[in-house]
Amino acid sequence: MRVARVPLSALASTSRSRFDRRRADVPLALRAGAQSDASTSDDARAWERFYLAHSRGGSKADVSFFKDRHYLRRAFSELADADARQHPEAFRAALTPSTLGAIDEEKRVEVLELGCGVGNSVYPLLRANLNMRVTAVDCSPTAIATLEKSPEYDPRRLRTHVVDASQAGSMVGRVDDASIDAVTAVFFFSALTASGLRNAAEEVRRILRPNGILLLRDYARGDVKNSDETSRFVPGERIDGVESSSEQMYRRGDGTLAVFFDPEELNDAFTSVGLIGECEIVTHTVTNRKLGVVLERKFVQGRFVKPTA
Ligand SMILES: C[S@@+](CC[C@H](N)C(=O)[O-])C[C@H]1O[C@@H](n2cnc3c(N)ncnc32)[C@H](O)[C@@H]1O
Repeated sequence: MRVARVPLSALASTSRSRFDRRRADVPLALRAGAQSDASTSDDARAWERFYLAHSRGGSKADVSFFKDRHYLRRAFSELADADARQHPEAFRAALTPSTLGAIDEEKRVEVLELGCGVGNSVYPLLRANLNMRVTAVDCSPTAIATLEKSPEYDPRRLRTHVVDASQAGSMVGRVDDASIDAVTAVFFFSALTASGLRNAAEEVRRILRPNGILLLRDYARGDVKNSDETSRFVPGERIDGVESSSEQMYRRGDGTLAVFFDPEELNDAFTSVGLIGECEIVTHTVTNRKLGVVLERKFVQGRFVKPTA
């Protein structure tokens, strides 16, 4: 895949990032029933418990928990094929192995989705580019099993790994160096502690080919779900005082983490491993029919490129 767009700013920095200084790993003791020091594996296990809690009595999670993220065809439009960009309706229909042809190897786009869950981002992206092949990773075996049970699952286009991507070298031996055109991460980095984010950023850099891109979307600081005035939307116990009072990390009731980012925090995390690019704030109006409210949501969206040298 050719990545033609030139990143706007943000020079690579090798210095220890501001982000490192501001975010700390969260002691495990902050969690109910927890005993000892921080462990990102325990954070990953919280997600498996989350999917099991939402499963319908078997190994298959309730796929309706997260909604399909169709907006990604616009947000990550550079991953869509020319036809999909021209005719945005044409790739909405669900695909099945029987409706798909073989990938045109000349046009193949190799994508890796971090924290894929049950595929709410993966499948809309696959529909947007019939020559896309996705490696989907998640720490939850139940989420991966659910993704694979989709009628759209086609092993020619989608491979999966159960991986705790917060660990150093988490995908070594599974995903080759410089083999990926684009890494996507949708509400994934917010699930990580500071050290987990650093490790994941290093892995993103390792697996991206030169000129490969990281595209992300995640929770933004100041979003309505991160606002004290609307406390009923606050996602869980605020965890601060560990290193900095500006920390915006929450532990939901089920033990999963949610970090609300300033764009600069993510800029630091990725430029410090040598990627070039930046995040911006995007807004989105959402109608929550259950609560009878219209919410103006704020997200961070970012694009980072691995330089050629
Ligand atoms: C908020 S969900 C988003 C799921 C999906 N990206 C989507 O768009 O619906 C966060 C996902 O990240 C996964 N995750 C959290 N920590 C992880 C880790 N350390 N390694 C791999 N996956 C992780 C969770 O299991 C979960 O599926």
